[in-house]
Amino acid sequence: MIFRKYASFALAAVVAVAGTLAYAQDVVPDPALADLTPEQMVDMRQDLMKANGGLLRSAGSLTGADAVAAADTLIVNYTNLSVLFPEGSDVGDSAALPAIWQNPADFQAIWTSGIEAATAMKAAAEAGDADAYQAANRALGATCGQCHQTFRAPS
Ligand code: HEC
Repeated sequence: MIFRKYASFALAAVVAVAGTLAYAQDVVPDPALADLTPEQMVDMRQDLMKANGGLLRSAGSLTGADAVAAADTLIVNYTNLSVLFPEGSDVGDSAALPAIWQNPADFQAIWTSGIEAATAMKAAAEAGDADAYQAANRALGATCGQCHQTFRAPS
């Protein structure tokens, strides 16, 4: 499982980056992702999608430093996902639709709005504002269906 090795490397690297940056919006995609094969990209993006689903659900009941850490991971995962769909990566069992490459600006805009929502989650967690935190959590959750509707083949 080569991809597992890449995945843990990439996740460890990005968590370290997120922890040292003052502002979440400074998070950049992990440069190591550019070296993945299309097959590894499919594996990694499917893995990150599932991880985000679990994270989003559990984040709803977190507060304080745990909530900040969850938001940081969501920011990093969304940032990395935004570069995991290059042209030509529709391989294997991928459910990515051609619309991604026909309409890249719309596709990227959803990642950006998700990063903004996760950044708002982080700020609310730091401020201890539970209502704003839950609202941002819901805004992030809305990006899942918004994107799947247009850019993912129904299973
Ligand atoms: C900007 C677009 C976009 C956003 C946002 C997005 N997804 Fe996805 N998702 C996709 C695409 C495209 C695929 C198909 C990937 C592939 O098979 O190559 C996918 C696949 C998945 C899968 C299937 C993974 C597998 O094992 O095949 C799950 C589960 C999933 N997404 C959950 C989520 C959740 C939960 C969120 C929100 C937290 C989310 N996604 C946000 C585009 C998106």
